[in-house]
Amino acid sequence: MLLSDLIARGKQAFEAAGIESSLVDSELIVAHVLGLSRGELQSKVIMGESVKDSSQIDELFARRAAREPLQHLTGEAYFRNLTLKVGKGVFVPRPETELLTQLALDAAAKFDNPSVIDLCAGSGAIGIAIATELASAKVFAVEKSEDAFGYTEANYAALAPHATVILGDASDAFQELNGQVQVVVSNPPYIPAEMVPIYPEVALHDPALALYSGDDGLDLIRVISKRALELLVPGGTVAMEHADMQSEAVVQLLLADGWREVVDHKDFNGRPRAVTAIK
Ligand SMILES: C[S@@+](CC[C@H](N)C(=O)[O-])C[C@H]1O[C@@H](n2cnc3c(N)ncnc32)[C@H](O)[C@@H]1O
Repeated sequence: MLLSDLIARGKQAFEAAGIESSLVDSELIVAHVLGLSRGELQSKVIMGESVKDSSQIDELFARRAAREPLQHLTGEAYFRNLTLKVGKGVFVPRPETELLTQLALDAAAKFDNPSVIDLCAGSGAIGIAIATELASAKVFAVEKSEDAFGYTEANYAALAPHATVILGDASDAFQELNGQVQVVVSNPPYIPAEMVPIYPEVALHDPALALYSGDDGLDLIRVISKRALELLVPGGTVAMEHADMQSEAVVQLLLADGWREVVDHKDFNGRPRAVTAIK
């Protein structure tokens, strides 16, 4: 079958399933199975090339059309300069978290040899990006879910092997570093318990522990605000992601905890999504 026809078949199935990125997803699945980059696949399409056996591709098309995340099918997610291993049991890193990571990097770069802690590591996206983009940073990361931790460990081992990664709880991890850390960064779960996301990829495939955090979604943000005050040196920075509608509540809870220079930062769509504050 012609590659162009195969890609069109996936695109059509994904459109019918309500998937917005239908062409890209179709191309990425075909490229993944054939062991090609998307660019290489597009070159082969232009050359009029075909495949003999499309059964593996058709199987992945069917799973994507049933709204399994593309990243679970390819086993990879892209984040800043990184390619991270992901799959069932771990949260797929999102583009908006690249902003949070930049804020943490900017804060860390103001110190010589900063210690940076990621309190909700997941795939390791934030901490690994910091470790690889700021060579002077000493990175620590904690993840609570055993399923997710397999990915945390594997990604750190492959991409940032000098970091310290533990299975534990953000509320009390790294007691030995109290008062010695320059930056605490976290993309915690922050969805209110009753607010189930509309996208099946999220609602059915991201782990609940990565999504929900109490009635207003702010349970873990409250915990991290207090824990970061214990971990940080005076003048150290906390940086956390939150939902846009939580902006005012997050700013107020940080001010109530005694943080100064509390600033909420907007994403590329102009929505407040990440807060920073100084101890
Ligand atoms: C929204 S995901 C973020 C993952 C990753 N940092 C990212 O940005 O892609 C939140 C992560 O926090 C973990 N988590 C939830 N509660 C936690 C806790 N109390 N302590 C440590 N990790 C926790 C979840 O398992 C999940 O991996």
